[in-house]
Amino acid sequence: MADIFTSKADELIIDQVLQYGFSSAKAPKYTVLRLALAKSLRISTEPNDSFDKNEEDGAEYTLAVLTGKTRDEDINGIRDFDDAICALLSTYHNEDLFSNLKRYKTLLQRHIRRGLYEIKTSWNRSHDFIVYLQEELFAGLDFGPSQQSSTAIEIILIDALKEIGVSAEIKNKIQGPRIDRYFLHLPNIQHFDQLKRGLEKLAFRLGLQQEGVFIHSTSEPKVVAMDIPRSRQNWKTINASQIPKWAEQEKGNERLTVWLGEDVLGKPFTFDLIDTPHLLIAGTTGSGKSICLHAILLSLLWTQSSENLQLALCDPKQVELAHYEHIPHLYGKGVVHLITDVMELLEQLVDEMERRNQLLREAGVSNLTEAIQQRKLQLPRIVVVVEELADLMMQSRELETPLVRLAQKARSTGIHLILATQRPDSVTFSGLLRTNIPSRIALRVQKNTESRIILDEMGAEQLLGSGDMLVKIPQVSTNAIRVHGAYISQDDIKLCLRNL
Ligand SMILES: Nc1ncnc2c1ncn2[C@@H]1O[C@H](COP(=O)(O)OP(=O)(O)OP(=O)(O)O)[C@@H](O)[C@H]1O
Ligand SMILES: [Mg+2]
Repeated sequence: MADIFTSKADELIIDQVLQYGFSSAKAPKYTVLRLALAKSLRISTEPNDSFDKNEEDGAEYTLAVLTGKTRDEDINGIRDFDDAICALLSTYHNEDLFSNLKRYKTLLQRHIRRGLYEIKTSWNRSHDFIVYLQEELFAGLDFGPSQQSSTAIEIILIDALKEIGVSAEIKNKIQGPRIDRYFLHLPNIQHFDQLKRGLEKLAFRLGLQQEGVFIHSTSEPKVVAMDIPRSRQNWKTINASQIPKWAEQEKGNERLTVWLGEDVLGKPFTFDLIDTPHLLIAGTTGSGKSICLHAILLSLLWTQSSENLQLALCDPKQVELAHYEHIPHLYGKGVVHLITDVMELLEQLVDEMERRNQLLREAGVSNLTEAIQQRKLQLPRIVVVVEELADLMMQSRELETPLVRLAQKARSTGIHLILATQRPDSVTFSGLLRTNIPSRIALRVQKNTESRIILDEMGAEQLLGSGDMLVKIPQVSTNAIRVHGAYISQDDIKLCLRNL
């Protein structure tokens, strides 16, 4: 007899995970159901009764399949890991489920079905499912120091350096969220060039794949800093909950401060959108653009009221920005998806820019910051976010006209552009847009030529993926700064918006 029921929509998700996530349509469905249970248990609020309905066109599963439950008489009453799951749910719900099998099954079904729903809304089938799981299930858990001892790694490093003809001594080491930074003393300065030329070989020797080893000179003579990535299981995830902590002191002020995550040494990385000329975020599919956008949006929403800030949101994929549909900060009619609506919204923003320019002229000031400081005008700032710019540009090149006008003149009027794209080629990102959008965030790209298009330099092809980025903002630094992005899950967004 069946113990838990799924719906047709649930079955569709299970099939998608098996087919695209595990590339094995024939793998047993219970594996996905068990992962869904784990996913749901990571959410701190209880699943609701909307998952109780037994829908006719779904499927049925027994506890024997799901939790390995054996009949009591089978093996001396041991219920396999059904006992462990029952204990987990009893603790989670603070109820004794061992004495109430019916209730146990109800709650198990709720968790599994909620987990499936969460996977559906937060996993995109073009993204690596295993990486997704690692982030979703293990985000924020501290697994302690790496398996290999530091001394063992240091011996391997010195050895690897010798193999490329560099003799060096490790002076110091700092552990960042994802990389270890080694300070190497090179007694022979000729070895500095040798080191620069040999970085690819060194990465190969250290068993790194496309992820690179980066070096920087330091202010200390003959000392170079070398960044070596750790293996993924030894990364520290930067949780969304950090953002409100960082944002605490900025709440309610006039700045548009955003926190993307932490730099390689673990210091929060922040900048102010008001000082930042318009921004492009680019990187290959699954590199972390949308999550980076969420970090920016949540930073702004944590610190700004809807009187001070409005968000104009364009999302052709229709899923990424759906959570923001009902926030009071929304500019215009809602999050726009269709190319005609995007065009209309951008044209409306151009008119708003012209209107504001007129108001600024009349007030005798050159920009909105001055107008606010001198109490001459009080207008909200508008942050315009365009997701998947390349998709939109492919549908209509005409989009470029209002975008270029905004890029050229909108900043002084308090309108700020953030464009995100997978393909930063000349079609999407024409010369005129390029020159007027000088702030760039590059997430991982496939080829060094793409890195050059985004940053005017190589490097983004050697990033680690999953929100590892190079940030080049003229107002912050002339060099690209490496940042590990904060991980923002769908729950984090919901939680933040609920607390607005
Ligand atoms: N800062 C981060 N920390 C940890 N993992 C991350 C981070 N950013 C992204 N990821 C991982 O990468 C996956 C893809 O992220 P995201 O959806 O932001 O990519 P994307 O670049 O927008 O992809 P697409 O171009 O397909 O829209 C996430 O589901 C997550 O597993
Ligand atoms: Mg995306």
